[in-house]
Amino acid sequence: MALLNPYWRVMTKLSLRRSLLYVPAANARALDKARTLPCDAVIVDLEDSLAPEAKAAAREAAVAAIRQGFPGKTVALRVNATDTPWGAADLKAAVAAGPDVVVLPKVSTPEQVVAVSRAIGEDIEIWAMIESCEAVLRVADIASTAKIAALGALLVGTNDLAAQMRCRLTTGREALNSALSQTVIAARAFNLAPLDGPFIDLEDAAGLESQCRHAADMGFDGKSLIHPSQIDAANRLFSPSSERIAWARAVIAAFEAEPKAGVLAVDGKMTERLHLREAERIAAFALQAG
Ligand code: COA
Ligand code: MG
Repeated sequence: MALLNPYWRVMTKLSLRRSLLYVPAANARALDKARTLPCDAVIVDLEDSLAPEAKAAAREAAVAAIRQGFPGKTVALRVNATDTPWGAADLKAAVAAGPDVVVLPKVSTPEQVVAVSRAIGEDIEIWAMIESCEAVLRVADIASTAKIAALGALLVGTNDLAAQMRCRLTTGREALNSALSQTVIAARAFNLAPLDGPFIDLEDAAGLESQCRHAADMGFDGKSLIHPSQIDAANRLFSPSSERIAWARAVIAAFEAEPKAGVLAVDGKMTERLHLREAERIAAFALQAG
């Protein structure tokens, strides 16, 4: 029974967000295929992947696809920014379709998040895209709207950000490290999920692996993906390793055996109650990820 599970308190706050697959709303075949893929979330896209002439028809296709559903997945709709000719109609479509999440691109102020949250209602979570220099400079203010709006995540738009910074977007992303890290810190400060941008070289599996590992090491919960071939790497690299799960089990068992202890040695390492909380989070994650 769920309530008897020792991790239930942590689990209620967990939702897997390792692999977030973008699907252009104009691509009916890809929308169908997405239902069969093992990604944690599908982001039906009305923004960058569509030409202006395709936007209106794609909006209708997006509403139909979201109503049809993507069983077992978080369903997100990426709308166009509110100051574009399509933004207002996209938000209306979101309310009509009822996705779990609206991905809001080109956020640069906290007021934009609050206004959109009021427009779509608190049943739909917002993932704010951090993809401009203005957004990075105000990322803490944007994250703080979680106190008054249904903000659930900060999603870094690495391509738009690199374009505005005029930096070189290498696999190691040295030029973006500061922005990526600031986004993780702001997200965690307000209990939001930090989510990474996509890796666009579909031929470079090793590059994708190293970028997923780097993002997971930085604290991101998951990564935006653009192709089905990228899902397995993200699911694997944003999950705790078997060694980490074994460590978590050992720490939990050690504190169960000595419930009054504040500090213990587990496998020869100093282990405090802060490690126990981390171990419980990992155990809950492993349970949810199966
Ligand atoms: N979601 C779901 N299915 C996808 C997919 C995606 N993002 N990308 C490709 N597929 C499907 C194809 O429909 C094809 O399915 P099929 O075997 O049933 O025919 C299969 O995967 C193989 O596709 P492939 O031929 O390798 O890719 P492609 O050349 O058709 O498309 C892209 C390449 C990059 C155009 C495509 O992957 C894409 O549009 N990605 C998302 C882009 C996007 O949303 N960008 C905005 C966010 S950055
Ligand atoms: Mg973009």
